[in-house]
Amino acid sequence: MARILILGGTGEARALAAALADVPGVEAVSSLAGRVRDPRLPVGDVRIGGFGGADGLAEWLRAHPVDAIVDATHPFAAQITSNAADAAHRRGIPLVVLRRPEWSPRPGEHWHGASDLADAAELLPDLGTRVFLTIGRQGVDAFADLQALWFLIRAIDPPDVAMPPHSTLLLARGPFAVADETALMREHRIDVLVTKNSGGGQTDAKLDAARALGVPVLMIRRPPLPPATATVDDVAGAIAWIGALTRR
Ligand SMILES: NC(=O)c1ccc[n+]([C@@H]2O[C@H](COP(=O)([O-])OP(=O)(O)OC[C@H]3O[C@@H](n4cnc5c(N)ncnc54)[C@H](OP(=O)(O)O)[C@@H]3O)[C@@H](O)[C@H]2O)c1
Repeated sequence: MARILILGGTGEARALAAALADVPGVEAVSSLAGRVRDPRLPVGDVRIGGFGGADGLAEWLRAHPVDAIVDATHPFAAQITSNAADAAHRRGIPLVVLRRPEWSPRPGEHWHGASDLADAAELLPDLGTRVFLTIGRQGVDAFADLQALWFLIRAIDPPDVAMPPHSTLLLARGPFAVADETALMREHRIDVLVTKNSGGGQTDAKLDAARALGVPVLMIRRPPLPPATATVDDVAGAIAWIGALTRR
């Protein structure tokens, strides 16, 4: 029996857990950080909560031996990705990172790039005054000092950090439809969209809406992966990677 640890918190991680449940000879355990109050749980074994850094994860792997690790965390979850690479290396466990492809600008979209949240907060006042902020609840405080701007902040759970003084919070979980995103941005007279380059089809409708309304996009670039990390870009790729390992 090949035992696989899936580091999760994404739709791809849930899809992989569901697919592996049907693969004979493979047993998967999914790990969630425990950040979302009411998470969508994957099929099969699940553990919830941090490991305690790279050391804690290495220790967990000693106590719960696995044959391979699939890091299917969100492209902006850089800390766990770094910890996983470190712990897997120390334990000699094969690891692959499942990363959905990035979005790239299409004709008619007006993108401005930011290297991180702080950079985005610096660039934002030159781009608009009524902001649709869709970066999740973490990191909203990077924009808390922008007193001259108004924000529509959308997240799954309420931020527990400082928010910009002029803001409205909208709690919602994707996927979202283009017509709804367009109506929302129109209703709030949004003139700039701020988002992370998460990629994927769950939350890209806002880009279509921004294009239709001629609204510029301030796109936060992904953090880099640890050096020499093996990657696949979809669930099928991860299953093929696991299959190649288990056939060895
Ligand atoms: N960042 C985003 O925009 C975003 C968006 C959607 C979903 N998510 C999901 O939400 C989770 C947290 O994201 P984040 O940006 O806070 O991560 P992060 O900054 O990379 O990780 C912070 C800490 O959270 C714990 N952690 C993160 N993912 C974990 C997992 N799958 N299982 C167990 N512990 C985990 C680890 O704690 P210890 O050091 O104690 O082990 C890690 O050091 C991730 O699983 C990610 O897939 C993130």
